[in-house]
Amino acid sequence: MKSHIEIQLIEKSKIDSVDFNNLPFGSVFSDHMLEIDFKDGAWQTPIIKPYSPITLDPSAKIFHYGQSIFEGMKAYKDAEGKMMLFRPLENCRRLNKSAERLVIPQIPEDVFMDGLKKLLEVDSDWIPTNEGSSLYIRPFMFATGNGFHASPANAYKLVICTAPSGAYFAGKVKVLIEEKYARAANGGVGFAKAGGNYAAQFYPTQLAIEKGYNQVIWTDDNSHQFIEEAGAMNIFVRINDTLITSPTSDRILDGITRKSILQIAEDAGIKTEVRKISVGEVVEAAKNGNLKEMFGAGTAAVISPIAGFGYQENDYDLPELENPFASQLKKKITDIQTNKVEDPYGWRV
Ligand code: COI
Repeated sequence: MKSHIEIQLIEKSKIDSVDFNNLPFGSVFSDHMLEIDFKDGAWQTPIIKPYSPITLDPSAKIFHYGQSIFEGMKAYKDAEGKMMLFRPLENCRRLNKSAERLVIPQIPEDVFMDGLKKLLEVDSDWIPTNEGSSLYIRPFMFATGNGFHASPANAYKLVICTAPSGAYFAGKVKVLIEEKYARAANGGVGFAKAGGNYAAQFYPTQLAIEKGYNQVIWTDDNSHQFIEEAGAMNIFVRINDTLITSPTSDRILDGITRKSILQIAEDAGIKTEVRKISVGEVVEAAKNGNLKEMFGAGTAAVISPIAGFGYQENDYDLPELENPFASQLKKKITDIQTNKVEDPYGWRV
């Protein structure tokens, strides 16, 4: 059954002020947003309204206890103007997994999907069609209920807003393998897309940026000997012809791009391994020439090749290959996402 959605349209669209040929990532916003409030123990009528500030009580628990989670998704439009999403239910399910961990109420899948689809219909002109651009979708849920008592709030808001976006990284990506700070610990919230997971990365990432890197590759909090994920993406390492990524866990985000890439790579005959990757193994492979590629995979990052990494005051460059796995896999996944090829997996919606 479709849920009733209240729609309040903007008086005058801002779309004419946007240069769709030069889109930044995530900083130009479409005309409308979806808001659904949770109060008195129930989700209220979804509202699509003009993109606008949200007013909250100063004692709303989001400000004090960080009860906040989000997702990242993308919408695409093909040459015929058909709009597409990529595995959207996976995002809804992961949002609910994050919600459970942060004691935020579950959003019913049909309410999420109906609201999202309606929002995209209303703002369909905002979905870019140029190569490499898409409509980045940011669903998020947070505690609006107030009070200084350190306990879950009694009211929440789900918002979905969208941003026509270009590439997440402007140029080559250099990463620093972290030796001191940790992103997540066993039993913690590393697997969830909790806002605080990202805030906690900013300081070590800032230190890495000051040294000339773009991102940190997190290592396990216990020994700092094993690669986990990067700040905005999961990590793949190619040693000779084997593509390796770390297993998901309490500490590592179950990336939708990550698992799609694994499937596509296996079906393309690429040998894949999901296992712990030691930093020593990567450094050794870089030294003896067996390290062929490293790349990040995520919704925002798509597939972002890594040009080099730093570890213990040394820098290691990755070779420039003719037809790297990163380019092959990026083409395969974006062709599916943008309706350029058949989708054998049923991922496109
Ligand atoms: C995404 O890839 O959509 C994310 O949520 C990562 C974010 C840090 C941009």
